[in-house]
Amino acid sequence: MNWIVKKKYAGGAMLLIVVFVLGELSSAWGGGMGPRMRHRMHPRMHHGTGFEGTGVCPQERFTPSAPQGILQTPNPLEPTPDNIEKGRAFFQTDAQPTACKVCHGPGGNGMGMMAPGLNPPPRNFTCVETMKAVSDGQMFWIIKNGGEGTGMPAYKFHKDEEIWQIIQYIRSLSPAAKPEGGAAQDRP
Ligand code: HEC
Repeated sequence: MNWIVKKKYAGGAMLLIVVFVLGELSSAWGGGMGPRMRHRMHPRMHHGTGFEGTGVCPQERFTPSAPQGILQTPNPLEPTPDNIEKGRAFFQTDAQPTACKVCHGPGGNGMGMMAPGLNPPPRNFTCVETMKAVSDGQMFWIIKNGGEGTGMPAYKFHKDEEIWQIIQYIRSLSPAAKPEGGAAQDRP
C-alpha cells in the first residue's frame, strides 16, 4: 500500500464511522431510545427524581418509636416562610449524605427515584391519615438516628435547628395532619 492508498483507506473508514454514528443518532431521535421513548417506558417518571401520584395512603409504618420525652417534644421553631424555605432546601437538595427527595419524592409522596428498591417504602408525607400519627418529636428522632430495619438513613451531620426546619417543611406538605401528643401547629 502506498501513501495515497493508505490515506484513501483511512478516509473510507472515517466515512463509515460518521455514517454509523449518524445512523445511531437519527434512530435515537427518530423514536428509538430518545427522551420520548423513555417517557413512554416510564410514563410516571417525574423529571428523573421520582414518580407522580398521590402515593400509598394510609400507609403502614415500620419505623421504631422515639423514646418517651422526645416523642412529645414540640417543634421549637415556628412555621415561618423562612424556616419552611430552609427546610425545603435541605429536603430537595442540600441534606447530607442524600437529599430526602431521592426516596421521599420531590413532592413528598413517598415515591422518589429510589423508592422502588425499598421495603418498607419511604413515608408518604402527603398522607394526612398517616402523618396524623407522626409527632414532630418522632420525626426528629428518626431523622437524627435513622429508622432501624428500614432504608431510612441517620442524618448525623445536621444541626438540630436544621432538622426542625426540615420538619416544618414536611408539615407543610400535609397541613391538615395534626398529630396527637406533640406540636401539631395550628394553621389557618
Ligand atoms: C434512602 C432512602 C431515604 C432517604 C434518603 C430518606 N428517607 Fe426517610 N424514610 C425512608 C424509609 C424507607 C422510611 C421508612 C418508612 C416506614 O417506616 O414505613 C423513612 C421514614 C421517614 C420518616 C417517618 C418516621 C415515622 O416514624 O413515620 C421521616 C420523618 C423521614 N423518613 C424523614 C426523612 C428526611 C427528613 C430525610 C432527608 C433529610 C429522609 N427521610 C431521607 C427512606 C429514606
